[in-house]
Amino acid sequence: MKNNAQIGRSHNRLEGQLKVTGQAKYAGEYQVDDLWYGYVVNSTITKGKIVSIDASKTRSVHGVVEIFTHNNRPSLPWFGMMYSDMDAPPGTPFVPLWDDEIKYNGQPIALVVADTFEGARYAASLLKIKYEIEEYSTNLFDNIDNAKKPSKGLATLIKPLPPSPKGDFEQAYKSAAAQSSGEFLHGTEHHNPLELFATTTVYEGKGKLTIYDKTQGTSNSQIYVSNVFGLSFKNVRVISPYVGGSFGSGLRPQYQLFLCVMAALELKRNVRVTMDRTQMFTFGHRPQTLQKTRFGAVEDGQVTAIHHSAFAETSRFEDYTEVVVNWANILYPASNTLLDYQLVPLDMFTPMDMRAPGGSTAMHAVESTMDDLAFQLGIDPLEFRLINYSERDVSEDKPFSSKELRACYHQGAEKFGWKNRNPEPRSMKRGNRLVGYGMSSGIWDVIALPAKAQAIYDKNGQLTIKSAVTDNGQGTYTVMTQIAADQLGLEMDQVTFKYGDSDMPLSPIQGGSYTTGVVGSAIKAACKALKETLFSVAKKMENSPLKNVDLSDVTFKNGQITVNKTHQSIQLTDVIVFNNNEPIEATKSNIPNPIKLKQYTRAAHSAAFVEVEVDEQLGVINVIRAITAVAAGKIINPKTARSQILGGMVWGISKALREETLTDHNLGKYINTNLGEYHLPVHADIHELDVIFVDEKDDIINELGSKGIGEIGLSSMTPAIVNAIFHATGKRMTKLPIHFNDVVNHE
Ligand code: MOS
Repeated sequence: MKNNAQIGRSHNRLEGQLKVTGQAKYAGEYQVDDLWYGYVVNSTITKGKIVSIDASKTRSVHGVVEIFTHNNRPSLPWFGMMYSDMDAPPGTPFVPLWDDEIKYNGQPIALVVADTFEGARYAASLLKIKYEIEEYSTNLFDNIDNAKKPSKGLATLIKPLPPSPKGDFEQAYKSAAAQSSGEFLHGTEHHNPLELFATTTVYEGKGKLTIYDKTQGTSNSQIYVSNVFGLSFKNVRVISPYVGGSFGSGLRPQYQLFLCVMAALELKRNVRVTMDRTQMFTFGHRPQTLQKTRFGAVEDGQVTAIHHSAFAETSRFEDYTEVVVNWANILYPASNTLLDYQLVPLDMFTPMDMRAPGGSTAMHAVESTMDDLAFQLGIDPLEFRLINYSERDVSEDKPFSSKELRACYHQGAEKFGWKNRNPEPRSMKRGNRLVGYGMSSGIWDVIALPAKAQAIYDKNGQLTIKSAVTDNGQGTYTVMTQIAADQLGLEMDQVTFKYGDSDMPLSPIQGGSYTTGVVGSAIKAACKALKETLFSVAKKMENSPLKNVDLSDVTFKNGQITVNKTHQSIQLTDVIVFNNNEPIEATKSNIPNPIKLKQYTRAAHSAAFVEVEVDEQLGVINVIRAITAVAAGKIINPKTARSQILGGMVWGISKALREETLTDHNLGKYINTNLGEYHLPVHADIHELDVIFVDEKDDIINELGSKGIGEIGLSSMTPAIVNAIFHATGKRMTKLPIHFNDVVNHE
């Protein structure tokens, strides 16, 4: 008998009420006694040196305690030595207050600590800094000639560099019946989660710290702090149960963590450092990327040649990479390919992963080029994807662990009414607005990583699960509880999931859409081990009905172990009583088998169908409805999963039509560093959105067969909008985001 009572059910988020009633505490909200506040001062120049810092006025402000700069920062045991975080790209990590050198605009150069936040902020505004300015360059285009191959490092294990050329691209392209080439530009984006980056460090004495940090990885922040400040792991506890969004910005420890811990250790005091919204634009971001494509197809629609190259910005000190050019050939089985990915170092901070890093950037270029080829050949865009459907990943010559993209295409198209599309651009109208239907494929990796979890059953009949993992707001707390409940056949309220705490079993940073699969599998393993132990203890009980049966002969359900054949059962709480009322626990790691996994290409897929209305006189573009069909293996909680995909679709609209950090290259700085001018969609921009999860079974990827859904909803959405705009207007949008004047008809 299989118990699947909780997995597959639409549970509400368990912490939802705490959040909407303000009871959930975020990193910058913990009330601690004797708290001092740090405010960061950021460089106003882009490159050069700090000549002098005049702090006399700052010091005279009432309540100011200390001003940390490179001149008086502590010299710590590990300061400046090799260290990094779990998501650090190859290179030399930036260290705040290291020396007088300015590497980018907005670089943190001082921390003013005072007894109030307002006092610290005011005092910080009085700091007089003299700089010596050096020449800088922040423009990707001006520096294309300096492009270089990225260096290899730990990060490139998860984010592989492009495969080598295959076949004879130039020949295949030249002889193709249809050719499409394009240049696609993608602007900078900043994550801008609602919650600002903040750290509250509680100085416990004797080198012991409790740190409330906004992060996607409590273990990651713990390792970082321990390494940098030379503290033992057991003396550093990082807590982060609630995260107000992050989208990748919390994959690396941000500078407020470093500065806050430094101040707390130096002052031997509790300290809080919170960034303001403008400071949220002073670290990692989605890199501006220039892509070039040349795809060729033969008469019947087979794509035979794929050239995809990308130039992405990075900093001068680290080689941030993402997977941009690898996707096209995984999706479409051309035998002639030329894939190239290069980095352009600029005087900016190192970019960083942002929701569907690389993949969402890539799909704009890949799926626009595919759409154009279909148009040239007079083939319906959906039909064109089906003609080029890959049953096998030809880029690596491997089978897929599972792939139900075809079902996504069919079910999405059916529900959307794709067949009502008139293939002719500019042919569909509603009043004075042009109507366009567009579609796109989407793809995202399934990443496998090790994780650990602990499962404890106690005398109250409560199962407690522990993992250091965070919940960035998407429902991890809820789905992990569901997963655990099912293993022991319990109700949701009989399970307590404790998480977001580095004292708990190690978890990788929450990200890459892998958390449910990775941590969920560890929980499954821990629960399995717990069941084994409970079973073996129960066997020893007097008159135990389990004496002559195996674990495979019993079912765990409703707090009992029941023998399948005889229906005799034992209460789990009686097992604990027999165990002298001591809880029974098991800790287990889930360690993926790389040899087995390497034999397969593991990916989630999606297909988005979008209808836009374009008013060519006003330049207004509206996404009036969209459907995304997703194949992501087992869906643990359809409600939170749907919300994840909806969030991705909203971001897709944002990427296509709103979001952009603008750079003034003369000043070498971002200029719209606030939520007034960094445009995000509002309710009025979002209309009818729908999500389909197609059935997909996968026994390869992990214990749960769950592929993850954090990113797949985004990757297909933006290109579907771009293709719909082409259908509506006959204009191909190659630069994101699309501005209203790009579609205005000037005739
Ligand atoms: Mo995600 S960009 O791995 O948080």
